Amino acid sequence: MSLLNNPFDPKRDVALVTGAGNGIGRAIAQGLVGEGVRTVFADVREDTVAAAVAASPRPELAVPWVGDLASREACNALLADARSRAGMVTHFVHSAAPARREADHALAVTDETWETMRAVNVDAGFHLARELSRQLIAAREPGSFLMLTSLHAATPRNLPHYSTSKAALAMLVKELAKTLGRFSIRVNALVPGAIAAGGFIADPALARHIPLGRLGRSEDLAAMALAVLSNRISGYVTGAAFVVDGGLSLTNWFDPPVLDDFAA
Ligand SMILES: NC(=O)c1ccc[n+]([C@@H]2O[C@H](COP(=O)([O-])OP(=O)(O)OC[C@H]3O[C@@H](n4cnc5c(N)ncnc54)[C@H](O)[C@@H]3O)[C@@H](O)[C@H]2O)c1
Repeated sequence: MSLLNNPFDPKRDVALVTGAGNGIGRAIAQGLVGEGVRTVFADVREDTVAAAVAASPRPELAVPWVGDLASREACNALLADARSRAGMVTHFVHSAAPARREADHALAVTDETWETMRAVNVDAGFHLARELSRQLIAAREPGSFLMLTSLHAATPRNLPHYSTSKAALAMLVKELAKTLGRFSIRVNALVPGAIAAGGFIADPALARHIPLGRLGRSEDLAAMALAVLSNRISGYVTGAAFVVDGGLSLTNWFDPPVLDDFAA
């Protein structure tokens, strides 16, 4: 049998993806459904969740859920609904993030915007991961969690609420990985570069700084996400951060070398 066949066990595996209404979260949720995994598509927007479910390779395996994950009550409702409608979640992906607005620099961002960013990115990520891990530990079942962080967990973005929340999430991945490893629950980070996925309005000129020569697509992230989520492919991987950026993070004040003589 090929090593990469059947990365999931559809008889046992159940996924929950936040931010599944758009962009990277949608592509990951649809990819999981395509692998036969029953998946809860969670998002604050009803219209986009419905569209994401309808466009899934196997809509009958997709469970839509709508609510505002900035609220603890909504997170608890999601946990209860996921359990009753899909089963015990074995694979958790936290991709939800409030909109990033360029106007929200350090001198402008409001307390409310700061609070909401932290509540969705960090608080919901921690609360959902901890409660799901408690269920798995009680059932003595392994699990796999994936948090969408950012290159801006380590470099400023001119959006302090966003970059600090992603830095917190990156550390949360390490804390959870260290604590939950003994229960065979793996926790990793996926680190997108410049992905034209909806949440980031990309200037096509940015491609000049990307060694692979183009902006990223949601599908670029989904393929890596599925590989890292799979216990069969990545069973000995935890606490790691997978950068999927076409090489963008290699960029500094030197441009790549001029290679005209070598062009095909
Ligand atoms: N696109 C990029 O270039 C990029 C780069 C680095 C990191 N990321 C991260 O990857 C993840 C996905 O990015 P994207 O570009 O696909 O984002 P996106 O904005 O397209 O999707 C985020 C989703 O989260 C949902 N959401 C927002 N607030 C919510 C709330 N309170 N409750 C529930 N759902 C809520 C939105 O409705 C949306 O569907 C995010 O965490 C983002 O920070 C993206």
